[in-house]
Amino acid sequence: MSKQLIIEPSGQQLSVFDGETLLDAAMREGFNMPYGCKNGSCGACKGKVLSGEVAHGDHSPTVLTSEEIEKGMSLFCCATPVSDSVSIECREVAATKDIQIKTLPTRIEKIDKVSRDVAVLTLKLPSTERLQFLAGQYIDIHTKTGNKRSFSIANAPHQEGYLELHIRHVPGGEFSGYVWETMKEREIFRFTGPLGSFFLREDSDKPIIFIATGTGFAPIKGIIEHALHHNTQREMVLYWGCRSLDDLYMPAVPSQWQQQYPNFTFIPVLSEPKPQHQWQGRTGLVHEAVLADFANLAHYQVYACGAPVMVEAAVKGCIAQGLPAEEFYSDAFFSSHATK
Ligand code: FES
Repeated sequence: MSKQLIIEPSGQQLSVFDGETLLDAAMREGFNMPYGCKNGSCGACKGKVLSGEVAHGDHSPTVLTSEEIEKGMSLFCCATPVSDSVSIECREVAATKDIQIKTLPTRIEKIDKVSRDVAVLTLKLPSTERLQFLAGQYIDIHTKTGNKRSFSIANAPHQEGYLELHIRHVPGGEFSGYVWETMKEREIFRFTGPLGSFFLREDSDKPIIFIATGTGFAPIKGIIEHALHHNTQREMVLYWGCRSLDDLYMPAVPSQWQQQYPNFTFIPVLSEPKPQHQWQGRTGLVHEAVLADFANLAHYQVYACGAPVMVEAAVKGCIAQGLPAEEFYSDAFFSSHATK
């Protein structure tokens, strides 16, 4: 039997069917909750249960702690209603409200192995379909074995007709292994998207700090290309953390932006530079470089994407240095869910 969900402060009421999470029900009804991983790993969907009882479902205990549960918090992507009526507090993400999520076929146009373990895929969209998306969102690829794998869109919406994905070869990873070893150009896949609430908040004029690790650069690339295309005057700094120079797979792209746009700065940060590369740039952990450079983050927005451990450390560190919590936007890549 379905249960009732009331979403405050809008007061919207909807039904939650058996087996649905609160996020599933909200998405089905067209209410745009913020979310990322959809499996209890990132915290993007965390919010307060105002009344009624929910089952919290499988989730990471570091993302939703027992103290937070005691205070009434829940992850709406995992929570299911227990009582007949549940009311929660959740603000709608207005920007994604009118964007239709579609399942479409796509053809692999190009496979470009740009480093020892990153391939850039270009997907051609059907000429009869237009995919509306916000720079920074992701898609779910339907694999040949019936699974779904999430990948961030690395290009901006104004570059119509194709999608760019950056796929890191994960040892033992089913889909990335397929991409690396077997996939051929012109193959057809299906995908669902656009998904997620990691995108540029354009109603702000605050300067922006981007923090990426590895292929976390992908959605940030899309966001920056979008912002530059629209002649943003906001100051933007990209910190891109990789292990060594071999892993910095597209350095020419942000270097070119830096040359061309006075409001853009690129700071690569290597955690394990190799002696033979004679690296002269920044070293250490990428979020620590940001925290060292910005003692007071009160008037910034921060967008972080990549390894969960970086995102977790970055949010804590940035808030401790004055960043308002609501100005931290993130998309953490979890291998259980995806190889984004
Ligand atoms: S924890 Fe719910 S969307 Fe990631």
